Amino acid sequence: MSRCDRMVDVGRRRFMSGAGLAAAGVAVSSITPSSAQAAPAAARVDYPVNRLANVKDLKPNEPLNVSYPDANAPGVLLKLGKQVPGGVGAEGDIVGFTTICPHKGFTLNYGAGDRTMNCPGHYSRFDCEAGGQQIWGQATQNLPQYVLRVDDKGDIYAEGVDELLYGRLSNVL
Ligand code: FES
Repeated sequence: MSRCDRMVDVGRRRFMSGAGLAAAGVAVSSITPSSAQAAPAAARVDYPVNRLANVKDLKPNEPLNVSYPDANAPGVLLKLGKQVPGGVGAEGDIVGFTTICPHKGFTLNYGAGDRTMNCPGHYSRFDCEAGGQQIWGQATQNLPQYVLRVDDKGDIYAEGVDELLYGRLSNVL
């Protein structure tokens, strides 16, 4: 065997032993998680079911102040007059949103002209006819929208929120 052939042979053996170690590593890593069987943390939050108002309390395009999921979480109900994402009621036009800006927590104001929530802090704007989609500004998420339900008496219930409320690690404290 020539010197060159011996070097190739040594290199091949080193490569094979490295591949063996890598394979062993894959085997160990694939065994470890399943043997641990750690229970995944629950991702869902159990929201309270709160009556916020009755459909008769709402006037078209006028915000009605509410709180959800607790008294320290202000928000509004809106009757927008046309079917919108997340809308409930006979016309699918009743929606609810937090009024705390998801950027840095300023209180939002409703703009009836273009049906947006507007922030006086850094001018973020959110489209109430598009599920609270951010349309301008510094915020990095859409406006948290309530999950609503209307019963046969016209009572409006909130049963959840679709985004994390500003300043909270969990929407339900
Ligand atoms: Fe609303 Fe900054 S607090 S955009």
